[in-house]
Amino acid sequence: MAKIKLFQPIKIGELELKNRVVMAPMCMFEVKDKDGMVTDFHKVHYAARALGGVGLINLEATAVEPDGRISPFDLGLWNEEQAEKLKELIALIHQFGSKVGIQLGHAGRKAKGVKEPIAPSALRFSEDYEQPLEMSQSRIAGVIEEFQKAAQYAALADVDMIEIHAAHGYLLNQFLSPISNQRQDEYGGNLKKRYRILSEVVEAVRKVFSGPLWVRISADEYSQNGSTMTDFIQICKWLKEQGVDLIDVSSGGVTEQLPTHLYPGYQVPLAMAIKSGTDIPVAAVGLLNDPKLAEYILQSGQADLICLGRPLLSNPNWLQMAARILAANEEFQAYNNAYERGRTI
Ligand SMILES: Cc1cc2nc3c(=O)[nH]c(=O)nc-3n(C[C@H](O)[C@H](O)[C@H](O)COP(=O)(O)O)c2cc1C
Repeated sequence: MAKIKLFQPIKIGELELKNRVVMAPMCMFEVKDKDGMVTDFHKVHYAARALGGVGLINLEATAVEPDGRISPFDLGLWNEEQAEKLKELIALIHQFGSKVGIQLGHAGRKAKGVKEPIAPSALRFSEDYEQPLEMSQSRIAGVIEEFQKAAQYAALADVDMIEIHAAHGYLLNQFLSPISNQRQDEYGGNLKKRYRILSEVVEAVRKVFSGPLWVRISADEYSQNGSTMTDFIQICKWLKEQGVDLIDVSSGGVTEQLPTHLYPGYQVPLAMAIKSGTDIPVAAVGLLNDPKLAEYILQSGQADLICLGRPLLSNPNWLQMAARILAANEEFQAYNNAYERGRTI
């Protein structure tokens, strides 16, 4: 019988994972003093998922500068103290057996608690958000430098992977989309120009971090005025040329528009389209709680990794539940013999 793929090790670029389950980046809004620092909450929260056997934990969106936060309670990575605390968190997760990625991002016009958010164009996301300031080219250069510095700190903290957040309508996504980017200079207009800031961020990060590099994109904007799948495939080809190892394929967030039909695996066709159009490894995400569905996606080659958000919030030991359902008696070992007994109920 074919082995259960969910639990097979995999190598993506230089990143070796013990299985194909990734914890999706999820903001916890648990920073205490608005200082961007890791707290005990983060240690317990992420270490619990490491004990549960997750192959790679992708830490929540971590801002590269204070004004790039989705909320004042986000993690941040713009100073040494934050890097030291992050290092403690990563060491703890490593101790319990998971690899660690970090999602570096900037919220742009979707930043909350910021006097004057920045954006490619002075276009508000919605009435609930502040009017953003159109970024000057020197501000763009500044943000690219902040991504680079954050990547340097992440490397000091011993991350195994960096993911650049270019999805969900945050700053880099705002540049990619013709809906939010109406600039007339070298950073707006045709696709190549809208891609420019992301390419410069990737280049800047690559100069200081030679390890595994992923990018999360929103591959459907749920709008006729948005980027198309042809655009996303082109973007991913450019990312691949720049040495990006994997595309983490999500959707939405540039506008308030949601998909009309939400069903298990609803974003998998997007991942598959990127994979077949670009020949780059992809992670699928979104309503993949059912282990049989997750296994089918891997077996049928629609994606290389299964990224779980809410399933791991509701059950840190999701893998153990999946092993029972998939009868993966040989392929999955719980953290220790005592945990192994959890499978017997
Ligand atoms: C509480 C929460 C926080 C989230 N924060 C982030 C984030 O920091 N970065 C990101 O790219 N996506 C974020 N997401 C989206 C998840 O990564 C994931 O793509 C989404 O929840 C769909 O996957 P799921 O059905 O497995 O939850 C968040 C989702 C949740 C539920």
